[in-house]
Amino acid sequence: MKVTISEVNQHVGKEITIGAWLANKRSSGKIAFLQLRDGTGFIQAVVVKSDVAEDVFQTAKSITQETSLFVTGEVQEDSRSPFGYELLVTSIKIIHESVDYPITPKNHGTEFLMDHRHLWLRSRRQHAVMKIRNEIIRATYEFFNKNGFVKVDPPILTGSAPEGTTELFHTKYFDEDAYLSQSGQLYMEAAAMALGKVFSFGPTFRAEKSKTRRHLIEFWMIEPEMAFYEHEDSLEVQEQYVAYIVQSVLKNCSLELNRLERDTSKLEKIVAPFPRITYDDAIKLLHEKGFDDIQWGEDFGAPHETAIADHYDKPVFITHYPTKIKPFYMQPHPDRDDVVLCADLIAPEGYGEIIGGSERIHDFELMKKRIVEHQLPLDAYEWYLDISRYGSVPHSGFGLGLERTVAWISGVEHVRETIPFPRLLNRIYP
Ligand code: 4AD
Ligand code: MG
Repeated sequence: MKVTISEVNQHVGKEITIGAWLANKRSSGKIAFLQLRDGTGFIQAVVVKSDVAEDVFQTAKSITQETSLFVTGEVQEDSRSPFGYELLVTSIKIIHESVDYPITPKNHGTEFLMDHRHLWLRSRRQHAVMKIRNEIIRATYEFFNKNGFVKVDPPILTGSAPEGTTELFHTKYFDEDAYLSQSGQLYMEAAAMALGKVFSFGPTFRAEKSKTRRHLIEFWMIEPEMAFYEHEDSLEVQEQYVAYIVQSVLKNCSLELNRLERDTSKLEKIVAPFPRITYDDAIKLLHEKGFDDIQWGEDFGAPHETAIADHYDKPVFITHYPTKIKPFYMQPHPDRDDVVLCADLIAPEGYGEIIGGSERIHDFELMKKRIVEHQLPLDAYEWYLDISRYGSVPHSGFGLGLERTVAWISGVEHVRETIPFPRLLNRIYP
């Protein structure tokens, strides 16, 4: 009977066949241990010389890394392995022999691994990160569906620039100019006026010349938008959502977190509510911590964000940033015109900003004024102005960067390992 590694627990004591690849092996004169992987998981297969036909043992001893094969054997419980089961082999059938697989169990440099990303994905570590990414996506749909949100897909090819014009990927759209989407937000605002509470999940693009552990050129964003929600209402959704995905990963990815040696006690603390600090107080806190370089009105860099985050053991909202360092669409503070009703959510442990969000301007004249002040072409934003022209309501939304969130929850240092095929400043291969 053909089963997957994830299903072997239902077949203890029975003979089964697994289609797999050889991840690694070790052998002596009497016994061979094959580390098998089939995509659903990893299992150790044991070949005992005295129990099998001579050719089976010889095959086991000579199989090369990443050879594909069918392995038949009896499933046994094994308390020593983290997975809990192993396979006592009776026969092996090679499907395709893999010769000179480039990624060996020794250490390779990052650039070499990145050049072989299509193969690197097969490793245990990358497998664990991808499974955690998948769990975050699954829990995202579950959370928003449970809470009455409708999934809406904004376009990728657009004529507008929600997050400023300097980081756009330009392309021709027949005779017109177009850009790859930086954010679906403006379209999600229109969708919220049609459907109330909406969320999107899709790729976004930033032609940012940043080469840091937090920056990708192409990344995936989850963007909820909610009609009749004010700033504070949105923060509550954000903390519940982030706590929900962390708890889902803890519940459903314990093998993967273990494989990545993630300190899960830190994740267990991630429950709502999250602390909030205003931008003003964050500046004061930084001055107290000796960051004399930063002045009110400047944006935070990675070291500032990390210093603020280190003050807490949960993600922290930094709220009410200066108007002049934020995009045109943010609602002004009711009593101050120098700050806006916004928040960035900073992850613990140095992973930086994972969410940017705000209440949106809903006054037509103010919105028009802000578009002009930001030197954006009014004609490209006519449709967007219709949102505040016809039955405008207070509304709020946010964007969560998936890869930074995966990096934090998995505990991997760099976002390049959190997306199957990363697009980086100097890399579009493979
Ligand atoms: O803060 P950002 O630029 O906000 C927006 O795009 C809003 N329009 C979202 C909204 O309100 N609907 O980006 C949101 C998040 C960041 O907090 C970060 O997690 C991620 O997207 N992000 C990046 N992730 C990887 N590489 C990059 N270059 C990123 N730029 C932003
Ligand atoms: Mg931001």
